[in-house]
Amino acid sequence: MDKIKIRGGRQLFGKVYISGAKNTALPIICASLLTDEPVTIKNIPFLSDITSLNNLLLQIGTKIDVKEEELNGHKTQTITYHTPEPSSLIAPYDYVRKMRASYYVLGPLLAKYRHVELSLPGGCAIGARPMDIHLTSLEQMGAHIEIKNGYVVADIDGRLKGAHVAFHSASVGATCNILMAATLAEGTTVIENAAKEPEIADLIDLLNKMGAKIEGANTSTLTITGVEKLHGMTHEIINDRIEAGSYAIAAAITKGRLELVNANAEHLKTPLDILRKMGVKIETTDNSIIVDAQNCTLHGEDVFTDYYPGFPTDLQAQFMALMCVSQGAAMITENIWENRFMHVPELMRMGANINVHGHASAIVRGVEKLSAAPVMSTDLRASFALILAGLVAEGETIVNRVYHLDRGYEHLEEKFKAVGADIERIKESDW
Ligand code: UD1
Repeated sequence: MDKIKIRGGRQLFGKVYISGAKNTALPIICASLLTDEPVTIKNIPFLSDITSLNNLLLQIGTKIDVKEEELNGHKTQTITYHTPEPSSLIAPYDYVRKMRASYYVLGPLLAKYRHVELSLPGGCAIGARPMDIHLTSLEQMGAHIEIKNGYVVADIDGRLKGAHVAFHSASVGATCNILMAATLAEGTTVIENAAKEPEIADLIDLLNKMGAKIEGANTSTLTITGVEKLHGMTHEIINDRIEAGSYAIAAAITKGRLELVNANAEHLKTPLDILRKMGVKIETTDNSIIVDAQNCTLHGEDVFTDYYPGFPTDLQAQFMALMCVSQGAAMITENIWENRFMHVPELMRMGANINVHGHASAIVRGVEKLSAAPVMSTDLRASFALILAGLVAEGETIVNRVYHLDRGYEHLEEKFKAVGADIERIKESDW
């Protein structure tokens, strides 16, 4: 397990190239299982979550061809996935426990091959993470589902049947899984209370290019008219709004100026509005966001997480780090996950003043400065929050358990170093 060492106190200036979106790449890679023709995906980020999913697809029998190429000013991966005939319809525990989004094989394998066995992912640091919506919706579409020895075992006779399904929560994962399954169902499926995150619109774009018939992108009602067959094609995925939002906060917290190249401001409307209210100057172009916090006095703002287009839960920890060193008090309310304040004790070890009320809200009172400490990453976004705190803390912060960051932030130290941060990775072998 590597560590990251940061010496705080430097303002960040320059350009950060935003990578392809992890949370779009994961369902889109699994959508390739819906056809026996090759599907080529461009702009896939270099992340361990992608490697984990590729390993699962390899054991299902997918042929994977990876090419590195320059795209939109930086190095990316173009990967072709081809599954003419799967050798296994099982997603084993060892794969799913490493990367929960492995559950995206459920809808495609069931719809195309009529059988799938998926290890239940279980909970994780941020909450229980149930799958009831995925499973009850598939049952409504005619699937027989049993839970056996920790696995979901799903079968269908013939094809899935179109159905009217209404989600009790606008789940991103369930929306992707049911969308993918419904493309090959017999008849029409309507999803009510579907998630509206930009990742869903990108998945719909890909599926329609593969020959699916889906209407309602960017709305909470999706209508899918099933087809008998989908075909291969090439698709470039959108850029990562959470990575862009994370670096926007890095510019703000260090009172620097960063140009986020390949970032879509439309996807970050709520967080950028909050940064503006705090006093940060923000300019946007078609494909970039310039975040300028030089000479700004930052004021705390209340934040509550919500489904898109609300404030993303995946930026809550990073915003909390920013509030720790902003003037005044800010209330942070987490509405999506029941246990997403694991970063609070670590930030408090660095001198933050935070009071948690119940499991959903926290009052952060800004302090003059943070002081460096050894801290422990608990999950992906919390880890970035600790890096942000380290960038402004006095002294040398060591962030332990860096594997969380490698799951979701491409070339993190390189990107930070290029804009002036004093940051380095200490390899496990060098401890
Ligand atoms: C995705 C993101 C994750 C983000 C989350 C919310 C990926 C790989 N991960 O996770 O980073 O934090 O969206 O934006 O894209 N729920 C149920 N039953 C279900 C499914 C979900 O009750 O069957 C609830 C969850 O407990 C949670 C809420 O719905 O309270 C949202 O979960 P969901 O959108 O499904 O999150 P993920 O897709 O797992």
